[in-house]
This record gives sequence, C-alpha cells and structure tokens, in this order.
Amino acid sequence: MTVILDDPVRALADYVSHDSVSADSCFASGVAAARDFACERLRELGFTVEIVKTPINPVVLATRGDPSWPHLVIYGHYDVQPPDPLDLWVSDPFEATVRDGRLYGRGAADNKGPQIVHMTALHRVLKENPDLPLRITYLIEGEEEIGSPSFRGFLEERKDSLLGELLLVSDTGSPGPDQLVVTTGLRGLTALEVKLFGPRQDLHSGVHGGALLNPLQALMKIGSSLHDDEGRVTVPGFYDAVVAPEQWEREELSRLPLTEDKYAEFLGIDEFSPPPGYSPLEAIRFCPTLEFNGVGGGYQGEGSKTVIPAEAFAKITCRLVPNQSSEDIANKVKAAVEQFCPSAIRCEVFVKGGGDPYVVIPPGKPGSSGSEPHLMKKAFDVAEGCIEGSFGTKPIYLREGGSIPIIRDLKEVAGLESLMIGLFTNEDNLHSPNESFDLEIMEKAISTFEAFFKQLAT
Ligand code: BES
Ligand code: MN
Repeated sequence: MTVILDDPVRALADYVSHDSVSADSCFASGVAAARDFACERLRELGFTVEIVKTPINPVVLATRGDPSWPHLVIYGHYDVQPPDPLDLWVSDPFEATVRDGRLYGRGAADNKGPQIVHMTALHRVLKENPDLPLRITYLIEGEEEIGSPSFRGFLEERKDSLLGELLLVSDTGSPGPDQLVVTTGLRGLTALEVKLFGPRQDLHSGVHGGALLNPLQALMKIGSSLHDDEGRVTVPGFYDAVVAPEQWEREELSRLPLTEDKYAEFLGIDEFSPPPGYSPLEAIRFCPTLEFNGVGGGYQGEGSKTVIPAEAFAKITCRLVPNQSSEDIANKVKAAVEQFCPSAIRCEVFVKGGGDPYVVIPPGKPGSSGSEPHLMKKAFDVAEGCIEGSFGTKPIYLREGGSIPIIRDLKEVAGLESLMIGLFTNEDNLHSPNESFDLEIMEKAISTFEAFFKQLAT
C-alpha cells in the first residue's frame, strides 16, 4: 500500500496547501484542513488519534505503543503565520512550489516541514518494525502562532497522557545544511499594548495647536525614554534577574559558522546595536530586549493633514532570559511607561500575555543534575551521533532568541524536558514573505531521525 509519507516532498506540499492561519478567523477552513491532514498521517502511522476541543483550535493528541515502554512526546503546531504582505511573494504562499532545492510556502519551515521530517522517519522505521518498543504521544496544537492561549487549560486537563520522559521538538533554527543546532534554551516573552489619550477628538492643529500636548509627541517621549543611548533598557529593575551565560555556552557559540559581517549582510544593515558587553550573536540569545512592534496614531494617508490626533498607541514585546519572569517584567514595564508618560496625557497599559524563558542543560554538561530520566539521557546522546552521521558535524548546543511558551508549561505541569533539534535556517524567511524549507536539510534530517527513533527504542 502506498501512503502520502512515501514521498515527503509531496506530503509537505499537501500540508502547506491548507492555509491554516490561526490569527485570522477567515482561514478557519484551512485550519481545520491542516488539522485533518495531520490526523490522517498519524492514523496511517498506526496512532490512535484524538481531537481535543479547546476554546479556539483543537489539539491533536495521538498515541502508539505499550504503556510500559519508554515514553517520548513529540510536539508540533499545525497553524501558521498570516502570509501578508502578499505582493512580495514570488509564488502563491499556499501553493507549494519547489525552486532551487527549496519548497516555498507559508508554514513550510515553521512548522510543517519539520513535522513531515519526524513523520516520514517514523513511517520508514515502523514499516520495517511495526512493533518498535517506543511509546510515542503526538501533541500538535493549532494556536502556537497566536501565543497558545488555550494550551495551559488543555495541559491541566490532559497532563496524565503526557507524563513521558522527554519532549521532542523541531521548531527552532540551525545555521544550514552542514551544521545543526541542539537548542538548549528559548527566550520568554511578555506583550503589552500602550494607549495614550489626549483631546476628546482629533483637532485642527492651527486652531488649537500650542495649547495642548499631542499624544504622538507623548508616545515618542515614552519611546525614547525606554532605552538609553547605548541600547540598555532603562525600565527600573529590568536586568535584576538576568543570569550571565555559562562558559560552555560561550564556547559553543564560538563554533557557530556565521560571521558578524555575513549576519549584517543577511539583515541588510550596516551597523549592529547590541547592548554594551555583548556581541550581536550573543545578544540575540543571552540578553533580554524591549521592542516596539508597532506604533500608530494620527493621519496615515497620502498628503498632509493638519491635525492633532486624539489618540496614539504602541505595541511592545520584551524577550526574556533566565531568570526573568514574564509577569514581573510586564509589571515593571507598565510602571515605567506610566511614569515616563507626561501628566497632560492619559495613559492605559494592557498586558497581553507571554511566557517565561526555558533552558535545558544537556545531560553531562556543567550544571546538569545527573538524575535525568533514562530516555532523556539516551536521547541527547543518540541525537548527537545521528546528527553527525547524516550532517557530517556534531551539533552545536545553543540557546535561541525565539519563544515557544508552551515548552516551559510542559516542563512545569508534566515535568517534561525538551530535546530541540533545529531544522530551519535564517534563509527560510520565517514569518516573512517567501518562507521556504531547505530540501537538503529535509532529506538529511529524515535519515537522522530514522536512526534516532531506531536507536532510542533499542
Ligand atoms: N518556531 C517559532 C519560535 C522560534 C523561532 C524558536 C526561531 C527558535 C528560533 C515559533 O513558531 C514562533 O514564532 N513563536 C513566537 C511566539 C509568540 C507568538 C508567542 C515568537 O517567538 O515570536
Ligand atoms: Mn513555529
């Protein structure tokens, strides 16, 4: 019998064709179709599949194997980011197209390609040995790209099915097809929205200008007060809980085959601005940030309009590192914004959620406990050999700048540590136009995971 996973590139093209944008309810049917696609593949692999309802998009929960066997949990997300701006895509974001060894489409790398890698490897292993003595629970959610609002509730309800020894995740990055990274940490996140209110409605700036403070001017004052001239965040207490990276982490970073010049060229910038004491490549993983993701207010149309706007807003997120807490930083940023806001303007700050940072110390590295579950030790050990076997180099163990808040929740609620093997690269354009997945990485990674699943079960 032939199944879709016999041809992983076709399988990925199919998966990408379901436009599962979680941020926009217009895409509800694509979200459902991508979920069905994932369920079908898992059923073909012999899993018992359950679709667990949540307030927004259901979670796919699937299991195989005997409860007495070592238990691996595998995480993925079937939702994707919005494809906008559409006019910058070379081909349709939801009609997968292969060009120059890459499969283009929204979600190809984040996170559909890596899921097809795991599933294809399992398909090959289970075809050879249907009784592989490894219990596997699959957990594929549909709200990752909107901050997983339903996940905590799901977890509290279903944690008993997730009491495994390790979580396998491939939703992080690597330098390229010759060098993979085992991700040892993710930054946390806290999101805030600032609203500033001036006069009761937009005003003629000639008739009234000079008498009152413009909310946009107040917004810019607040904005410029939140960093100092050297790039440090000025929010009182912002850095209090930050712990410096370990020596081994700096050594691992020095193995990264990426120069600052190449990185600047990739970004299209002439100059970096990391905070004092950190190189750019250190700053993106070891330092917290405060970023403006969007600001607005006043006239945005063509030509000029002489107006004093009634309102202005800013959307802010902070990336957090150990041992900062999302709640604590949200409160500190809120207090600082309120304090920097001129008294003539009314200011409201809304905390929009987030998650705490996560680190895992690979078994055997300085600081590791030595009492990790057997399957966790074995998996880290086996992964290194399997990666070297297919990619020709040992992985680099590195923290990453991005966030997957549920990884920390799974540790807190179900005691699961994560083995995160990065399969996408900077060139894959995550969250940007022309997202793609490198098919060379895909092929090498499938053989890596084939060997990994086999060895983990022996
Ligand atoms: N896969 C990414 C996270 C990621 C990217 C980790 C690069 C490591 C390296 C994930 O899908 C993502 O984009 N997460 C969001 C989380 C947010 C929506 C709560 C992020 O990091 O912005
Ligand atoms: Mn992702």
